[in-house]
Amino acid sequence: MNKLDTILVTSLLKEAGFALTDSVTDADVVLINTCSVRGHAEDRVISNLGHLKHIKKNKPQLTVAVIGCMAQRLGEQLLKHPAVDIVCGPAQLPQIADLIMQTIREKKKTLAVTEKIRQKVTSEQSQALEEFESIYDTEEQHLPGQAFVRAMHGCNNFCSYCVVPYVRGPEVSRPPQIIIEQIKRLAGRGIKLITLLGQTVNSYKYVNGEKTYCLAELLEMASDIDGIEWIRFVTSYPSEEFFDRICRAMADLPKVCKYLHIPAQSGSDKILLAMNRNYTSAQYLNLLDRARDIVPGISIAGDFIVGFSGETEQDFAATVNLVKKARYKNCFIFKYSPRPGTTADKRLEDNIPADVKKQRNIELLAVQEKISAELSTEFLGKTVKVLIEGLSKKPHLNTADGNKSPQLIARTADDRIVVFNGPAEMTGRFADVKITKTSPLTLFGELA
Ligand code: 5AD
Ligand code: SF4
Repeated sequence: MNKLDTILVTSLLKEAGFALTDSVTDADVVLINTCSVRGHAEDRVISNLGHLKHIKKNKPQLTVAVIGCMAQRLGEQLLKHPAVDIVCGPAQLPQIADLIMQTIREKKKTLAVTEKIRQKVTSEQSQALEEFESIYDTEEQHLPGQAFVRAMHGCNNFCSYCVVPYVRGPEVSRPPQIIIEQIKRLAGRGIKLITLLGQTVNSYKYVNGEKTYCLAELLEMASDIDGIEWIRFVTSYPSEEFFDRICRAMADLPKVCKYLHIPAQSGSDKILLAMNRNYTSAQYLNLLDRARDIVPGISIAGDFIVGFSGETEQDFAATVNLVKKARYKNCFIFKYSPRPGTTADKRLEDNIPADVKKQRNIELLAVQEKISAELSTEFLGKTVKVLIEGLSKKPHLNTADGNKSPQLIARTADDRIVVFNGPAEMTGRFADVKITKTSPLTLFGELA
């Protein structure tokens, strides 16, 4: 979601006549797009601001804007920072060029955030956001041939640990026709892979008179667009609503990637209740069973939080157990970070010591790594279709061959990383790769 916002802000500023530079010292304006989901992400912003404060001593005309979730969360407080000139929340991003011009002209600090974040989005606001959304410049795309498309904004779930509902506001699904038109335009500019985004993208729901559109319909409509070859969606919430329909769409529509990112967060029912997740570990595993029944060969990924308030050794053992049963392709594991304003922060003590959180993180990663390694091995000798992302940053293998062609990094439809030697010109194109070696998170091979 943040990557998409960065692309959109960059596109908007370019359209408004700004030019980009990679170097902070060359810049007249610096923007920091921020995330509030864990304390660590915010700490890094504060440390960057310290650096900018230093630069500003010799360059007082430098304008610094903090945009995104942290801007919305801290508002006025962030504006007090000596390095900060503009604080702009996610809903105000469409105004960012005007805010910069105004700040430079009036030589005073500017605050633009939503006052009552849980209030219904006004029609002017959604109109502005829709226009903002449509300025996607394919040159600013994160990877060649690929684009993100927001299906929905915000979240209504209020998981007790999570800051998102307080910074991104209430859940709003974008009109399907507008999304489809946007994907058609992207396809016209050579985009092959679309990733539909939403905090809980599987709860996408748009009512138009008699008709209700859910994610399954959106996937169907997007599948009809010529030029688009793969469609992914992230992130899914483990809920019953629409679940089987979405899985069937995945099974029936060849362009829809057989990949489901569906965070469990914990395997302990006690902790899931404290997290306000509205499901038990058995219900969660039942969803995975159904997904695997309906979509043979599906890859499933998850997220976990370790060291949540009150998590005992027994609770953690339940999480390890769930990870073993779920057999994820991979999972993302985070140490619990209390977020100001959330129910967990207000009502529960952050009582798991940092070293215990760290230990549990390492242990759970090791359990998952073994599973990922086993699943990867199944690809040995097989040929997979991949979309090439570009040059691989790390040298991996086949370095002897590397003299002739560089190492490329690519992904399969179900989000597996594949590394092989090939011409750099293949970036943004599809290829077939025969897998010759595997590691837990990477498949290695040669062009078939
Ligand atoms: N502390 C740690 N991890 C968190 N996540 C969300 N909020 C927190 C928090 N307060 C994790 C969840 C979510 C992912 C995006 O970040 O696992 O799925
Ligand atoms: Fe946060 Fe829960 Fe919403 Fe995900 S579903 S964004 S974890 S509140």
